[in-house]
Amino acid sequence: MKPLNTTILAIQPSATLAIASLARQLAAQGEKICNFTVGEPDFDTPELIKDACVDALRKGQTKYTPINGIPKLCEAIAAKLQRDNGLAYKPAQIVVSCGAKHSLALVFQTLLNPGDEVLVPSPFWLSYPEMIRVAGGQPVYLRAKRENDFKITPADIAKAVTPRTVALLVNSPSNPTGTMYTPSELRALGEEALRYGLAIVADEIYEKLVFEGNRFASMASFSPELYNNTITINGFSKSYAMTGWRLGYTAASEAFVRAMGSLQSHCASAPTTFAQCGAIAALEQGEASITEMVKAFDERRRRIYALMSAIPGVKCPKPTGAFYVFPDISSFGLDSVAFARRLLAEQKVAVVPGAAFDADACIRFSYACSLQEIETGMARFRAFCESLR
Ligand SMILES: Cc1ncc(COP(=O)(O)O)c(C=O)c1O
Repeated sequence: MKPLNTTILAIQPSATLAIASLARQLAAQGEKICNFTVGEPDFDTPELIKDACVDALRKGQTKYTPINGIPKLCEAIAAKLQRDNGLAYKPAQIVVSCGAKHSLALVFQTLLNPGDEVLVPSPFWLSYPEMIRVAGGQPVYLRAKRENDFKITPADIAKAVTPRTVALLVNSPSNPTGTMYTPSELRALGEEALRYGLAIVADEIYEKLVFEGNRFASMASFSPELYNNTITINGFSKSYAMTGWRLGYTAASEAFVRAMGSLQSHCASAPTTFAQCGAIAALEQGEASITEMVKAFDERRRRIYALMSAIPGVKCPKPTGAFYVFPDISSFGLDSVAFARRLLAEQKVAVVPGAAFDADACIRFSYACSLQEIETGMARFRAFCESLR
């Protein structure tokens, strides 16, 4: 065989999955692991969503759907964007894809020409840079400080823009930091991006997981200019505990959606038919289950933050969104990979090293697990930190 594609060969294996699989191996050997690596809700998908899917299967919904998704689902998404986000999108401005990850990959492929630069606030979800490179673009990192709750400022954008910059990526609430921008901070970033004619890719997947009385606002909702220049991505995985269903969606201008749909037609045809039927039920009747899950996440968030921030040497911005905490552990003198490996080996606590997210001073805890696991895990984490002092 001839040499393989060099961009694909250069993709870094996912550090999240590497530690998670080590944790699974240890668990299979009978070890009691406290696993804080998982980026998915531990709740099951609500019954009414499953019922709608099973019903669809039984009624023979087993054929291809239109490329951009079942019209009724596109209508339900448009209605949701109007209701929750104050955004007026027509169904023709929506593409449903196989998970928000798939949506994002197609967005970058549709948006970028070779060598185009995308501004990526760091720490970042580790798939963004790889997706941008695979699409022929170049990620440019805007490094945010812990002291600033891991938020970038408009001045960071101004400093990083070059003639090749085409887009700014925004993910608020954020994976991995668990913090979020206020509406006015977000708007200021958007307006700065507009000054340079950039598109804004707004990954709003954690929209529903917002705490401390914060208000979520969509980037596209701030002004007609921002609406015209923003590509909004959202999905079902985190809000409705539907990670395995693989459904996400993009809302943008009709021209963008047409181009993205034609790309999707050649690489996926359309998302799974009966999963889409479940998603319609999620949007139309799933709001009450979201409220319950958010309540449980909030309780866990308060507990993990209280326990963690009381450990000497651990510096942690207050988590206000998503289901992650991202403490700085650099005072212990280990890099994040060594810290995570030893924490797993010595105390059987699995976390993701911050190096995976361009933040070697930190480690990521996901609190999508039980309160009991949080109590045990934090006691072990404390013991490990004390052993290093
Ligand atoms: C920031 C962010 N965006 C997008 C996704 C993709 O979600 P999915 O493909 O399950 O819809 C994830 C999943 O972990 C994420 O953390």
